[in-house]
Amino acid sequence: MENTARLLNGAIERPVVALPAETIALRKLRLVNFRSYRDTVLDVSPRPVVLAGANGTGKTNCLEAISLLSPGRGLRNAKLTEIQRKAPLEPTDRGWSEGSPFGDSLWAIAATVERQDGSWEVGTGLSPIAFGANAKRTTHLNGAPAQSADFVGLAPMLWLTPAQDRLFLEASGDRRRFLDRLVYGLDAGHATRTNRYERAMRERLRLLRDGFPDPVWLDSLETTMACEALAITEARANMIALLNDELASRGTAGSFPCAHLALEDGLERANDAASLVSKFSGLRRRDGESGRTTVGPHLGDLCVRHTAKRADARDCSTGEQKALLISIVLANAWLQKRRSDAVPILLLDEIVAHLDAQRRAALYEEILSLHAQAWMTGTDKSLFSPLKGDASLVTVEAGQFMQIDWS
Ligand SMILES: Nc1ncnc2c1ncn2[C@@H]1O[C@H](COP(=O)(O)OP(=O)(O)OP(=O)(O)O)[C@@H](O)[C@H]1O
Ligand SMILES: [Mg+2]
Repeated sequence: MENTARLLNGAIERPVVALPAETIALRKLRLVNFRSYRDTVLDVSPRPVVLAGANGTGKTNCLEAISLLSPGRGLRNAKLTEIQRKAPLEPTDRGWSEGSPFGDSLWAIAATVERQDGSWEVGTGLSPIAFGANAKRTTHLNGAPAQSADFVGLAPMLWLTPAQDRLFLEASGDRRRFLDRLVYGLDAGHATRTNRYERAMRERLRLLRDGFPDPVWLDSLETTMACEALAITEARANMIALLNDELASRGTAGSFPCAHLALEDGLERANDAASLVSKFSGLRRRDGESGRTTVGPHLGDLCVRHTAKRADARDCSTGEQKALLISIVLANAWLQKRRSDAVPILLLDEIVAHLDAQRRAALYEEILSLHAQAWMTGTDKSLFSPLKGDASLVTVEAGQFMQIDWS
């Protein structure tokens, strides 16, 4: 794969709807061999997008594709090879790709990101040179190779999915990823930091497992881990402090509850670089034997309380937990709007199904006053009717996107 950005043929048309200064919007999206999509293109305005349609038509797949235009494994946390469209190749599959850099038919996504300061062509796809457990994705920005961390500042995004209904009940990994995504929006360096920490951690474990590691190399890896660990923890703590202020100022009177967030940092009270380095080095034997790093921000956790109920989020009802998540995501979007003049793209999978009419109206009002390009999915388009005139309505038929009228 040479260049996923070349999937988009030509410039996009100028916006029919003027782009508010703080809006960041996808204007053109092309999916190739991505799950249920063989090859399809969607052109949309910067307004919110409602993806409506029957079960299994590809709504979540579309949001997942967009989410892969950011670091990590997307909103399903899927393995890269799982995403490849599973279908027998037909003769025509070869036809479209002849002469294109995608002749190998690996999955690829390309999009035009439009912001007040210009348009960017971004793309990502499965790399043709690493397969199976070693599968990697390649990433492009305006035709040049890039890192997915580069997209964080360009197209910040946040998502909420039905799988997150259990976010407060499951193990800490998903909560940590949720928190890190909140941090990305105001601290684009956070993605690079977490990548560097994880790379050093993996390399240290590999050395420890292989036996007889070079102590100088181990020292250097542990120093990198300690520095990155402290920076990661500080960035998470800063975001939590900002969010707590934002949530408190939103108050408890609104349609979504006030939450209070706290960080478990995973550092076991080793709060400076020297203590953390000595902690890592003291744990070499135990970590080597267990095959896991037993201290560090990769074990941190996000603790959430429902302020009015004075209860841990995990003890709240499913609907209350969902409402807390919506509160946190909206508070983060408002923070980004105020502090960086950029509103993240919101991917809200089946969100309105949980909400009563009053909360649905409150959510739509917030999305519209944020000027966010929110992508919302649902099986019943009538639930979105208050957005008529303010959002694009799209369905998927036979693997192709279709813009339809609200009537
Ligand atoms: N790798 C793949 N190759 C081909 N098809 C896939 C792949 N992965 C998933 N699918 C199929 O994609 C289809 C659409 O899935 P998706 O989750 O996007 O549906 P949906 O429109 O969100 O449905 P629902 O309303 O039930 O949530 C499903 O039928 C699923 O089996
Ligand atoms: Mg779905």
